[in-house]
Amino acid sequence: MSKIKQVFAREILNSKGFPSIETTVVLNDGKTGVASCPSGTSVGNYEACELHDNDKSRFEGKGVLKAVDNVQNLIGPNLVGIDVIKQQVIDKIMIDLDGTQNKSRLGANAILSVSIAVAKAAAKVSVLPLFLYLREYIKKENLNLKIPTPAFNILNGGQHAGLNVDFQEFLVIPASSFSYDESLMIANSTYVALKKILKDRGLSTLVGDEGGFGPALENNNEGLALISKSIEQINLRLGFDIFLGLDAAANNIYTDGKYHVKDKNTSLQAMELIAFYQELNSNYKIIYLEDPIVDSDWDSWSEIILKMGNQTIIIGDDLIATNPYRLQMALDKKAVTGIIIKPNQIGTVIEAIAVVEVARAAGLKIIISHRSGETNDDFIADFAVAMSADYVKFGAPARGERVAKYNRLSQIEKQLKNL
Ligand code: PGA
Ligand code: ZN
Repeated sequence: MSKIKQVFAREILNSKGFPSIETTVVLNDGKTGVASCPSGTSVGNYEACELHDNDKSRFEGKGVLKAVDNVQNLIGPNLVGIDVIKQQVIDKIMIDLDGTQNKSRLGANAILSVSIAVAKAAAKVSVLPLFLYLREYIKKENLNLKIPTPAFNILNGGQHAGLNVDFQEFLVIPASSFSYDESLMIANSTYVALKKILKDRGLSTLVGDEGGFGPALENNNEGLALISKSIEQINLRLGFDIFLGLDAAANNIYTDGKYHVKDKNTSLQAMELIAFYQELNSNYKIIYLEDPIVDSDWDSWSEIILKMGNQTIIIGDDLIATNPYRLQMALDKKAVTGIIIKPNQIGTVIEAIAVVEVARAAGLKIIISHRSGETNDDFIADFAVAMSADYVKFGAPARGERVAKYNRLSQIEKQLKNL
């Protein structure tokens, strides 16, 4: 039995230059697990609490020294001596120790960093690649071990790129019939072609938070038109070889009870916004649509499913926030056909797995996602394969913290061939 001997943590910087927590779990046999947490920019209203110091003299109040202290002085001492493969027990201890609904006492960042570090150490003890170790925790009947289809965010907008366009993410999704290696090449070719088009038009090729370009465009339509052009230039067929997706992050385009998009001269009611999405879908084959509607308007979510659900996956990110209660509401209201899973929205590995299981049993598409503020931790790549997720969303096929995950999937693909 390999027992937890020590847990320590430190403050590191994430891809946005702000602090994140990194935790190391040391076992009595000398093995270790190290994990760090990401951080969102467009944070949902129902997410577990990322604990920040609020000390304005450091990192604009975003320091995580309290979370570090919680790991070292509150969580760690309660885990010493426990068998590291008891993930459920360990996560439950942390949930109970926190005692709040949203992990605001200890911090979801503190708790998740320990939870993931424990899983990584336990995988080493079990002499299994992490994705195979994590698979022990799911019901596997009729589920294939495969690399999920990647959705690449090649054009960044909204809060991720200085408000250049309204929608937050413009995604390209190679057909799932392509191998993972082919998908990476397709994503790279599209990314390079888009860069050239932007350059030729005198537009900026600087990138946003998730590695996609962030040019100042006329409107959202122009973003989709430019991406379509880049797809055409590499001789792929939109709607056959490759598809488009959007994360509207609608909470951020909703003010005073209406939606605001540059494409329209006047602000829009939900039904008018849905008509706009339908227009975009008929022109650009939008198979993936995340957070199209604000998180408080369930009726319009149900409506968009009726109008577009047979062609487009309607996905809840901020709507559900990887939260089992919000998921149940979404299922009751038939509001989504897909769910974004971000482990840091809920705060432990076991709870994230439980949300995946419920969503899958309800027939939802499962999308495992990074955050805009990332570290080089590649846990979510293993997690996505372990969960037999349908899609992964790790940003552009560029920038270190994004490709860390894509590269880990390449490695897993090879490991799968040798199983
Ligand atoms: P966030 O963005 O990490 O800033 O929340 C990602 C997303 O909305 O999918
Ligand atoms: Zn989102």
